[in-house]
Amino acid sequence: MAILPTRRSLLAATTLAGFLPAIHLRPARSAEPQALRIPELIDARRQGQSVALRAQAGRTIFFPGGPASRTLGYNGSYLGPTIRVHRGDEVEVAVANALGVGTTVHWHGLLVPGPLDGGPHQMIAPGATWRPRLPIRQPAATLLYHSHVHGGTAEQVYAGLMGLLLVTDEEERALGLPFDYGVDDIPVVLQDRQFEEGVLVLPGGMPAMMLGRRGDTILANGTPDAVARPPAGLVRLRLANGANARLFDLSFEDGRAFHWIASEGGLLERPVPLRAIRLAPGERAEVLVDLSDGRPVALRTAPDTNLPMMGMMARMGGFAPNMTGEGQTVLRLEPRLTGQAAPARIPGRLVSRERSDPSQAVRRRRVALTMGMGMGGMMQGEMGGGMMGRRGIGGPGGAMGGMHGINGRPFEMGRIDARIRLGDVEIWEASGEMMAHPLHIHGVHFEVLGRDGGPADPRDQGLRDTVLVRGPTELLVRFTQPAPDHAPFMLHCHVLEHEDNGMMAQFVVA
Ligand code: C2O
Ligand code: CU
Ligand code: CU
Repeated sequence: MAILPTRRSLLAATTLAGFLPAIHLRPARSAEPQALRIPELIDARRQGQSVALRAQAGRTIFFPGGPASRTLGYNGSYLGPTIRVHRGDEVEVAVANALGVGTTVHWHGLLVPGPLDGGPHQMIAPGATWRPRLPIRQPAATLLYHSHVHGGTAEQVYAGLMGLLLVTDEEERALGLPFDYGVDDIPVVLQDRQFEEGVLVLPGGMPAMMLGRRGDTILANGTPDAVARPPAGLVRLRLANGANARLFDLSFEDGRAFHWIASEGGLLERPVPLRAIRLAPGERAEVLVDLSDGRPVALRTAPDTNLPMMGMMARMGGFAPNMTGEGQTVLRLEPRLTGQAAPARIPGRLVSRERSDPSQAVRRRRVALTMGMGMGGMMQGEMGGGMMGRRGIGGPGGAMGGMHGINGRPFEMGRIDARIRLGDVEIWEASGEMMAHPLHIHGVHFEVLGRDGGPADPRDQGLRDTVLVRGPTELLVRFTQPAPDHAPFMLHCHVLEHEDNGMMAQFVVA
């Protein structure tokens, strides 16, 4: 069995239940600036705590004057509305599945019991409606919702099934942070996608399974070459990495500093001045950027470098062309001078949070995110026919299954991998094989205690639900939500192709 993927397999594409066509040619890029699309805001309180979502197929024109692509969305053709919920409320969401295939909707980062979580066990059959009542019991934060259907998450999310879920509370409002949705409080879902002649296509084959699907075009809320025109002043960006696999290493083209104010779990204790911020798939960061000088500025990402040795071969094959070079613009900000631009005021303190004490931890667990073609496997000569044959993978472009794993074991829907006591605190030692992997854990917030035996990075502070790991990373995890055997929580790599191909495990909390 050849290690090197053939050119055919590099460029081959599979079709998503007929939604997306196969790849034929290299894309023709237009670089016409377009206004950043702002997803509709649904505030649950303004609608009697009831929100309706409909997962549906549609057609989306990504480039002005270009062709329509077949896409998926919630209440629209690509992505979904932004849902705002208030701490202390209880919100019923009715999720109707009009896709014609099964789906689920997972509330990524929301602390709710297992049966409400929307993971692979809460399947919504075609034509059915799922009605979880979500108790909102956590501080203000920027969360996601997205498809989490077993084995098909990567394709459904790639095609558009993702949206933002914002939690707000009194504590956040009292700080006077920018809060005018779409004006000075701007949602930015970042994704990379591959297009052919303006049509969204689904990369397939072995590189997709190994590296995750990546593309040469960056979308912000589904908009390529996006431009936002906020008022000159202090602007809050809610950055969410909604890509299937790629990291975004974000900075402003003029090198200006900005303030990081919220991690995945919500506001930090104080704003952290940064000049660059890395966001892995599933991660979010809220930042404040001072645009009071009125000068336009581009938010850029560095090239995509999170690749195992496969990446070199993939590059030769023309896969994911933005791995090298200068990086790309993800969003241009063109401030509107409104005449009374007051100099921006950044609050000195944000919130105080109770920290967990590592000495409360009752046990340690090792969580290694392992790749089927990992170095371990290669050195034991297990890679080719061995591992792949044994696990029934059809080879490049073939059916995906349990190629990757957690601690070497591919995910199985019927197997509970850990049983945890409700209320316990544990230390998890996470690591990633061959490349950095974004580990996401359902139903919890955790803190990063340290990396590689040393202290945590400044970017590790705050409560999180997703963290990028490579070397050994210690997490302090508190289990506050119950999850029974029939509705366990997932822990997985948020490279969605890794998740779909076995890099996931499940645990019950009782
Ligand atoms: Cu955002 Cu288990 O996923
Ligand atoms: Cu999640
Ligand atoms: Cu991974």
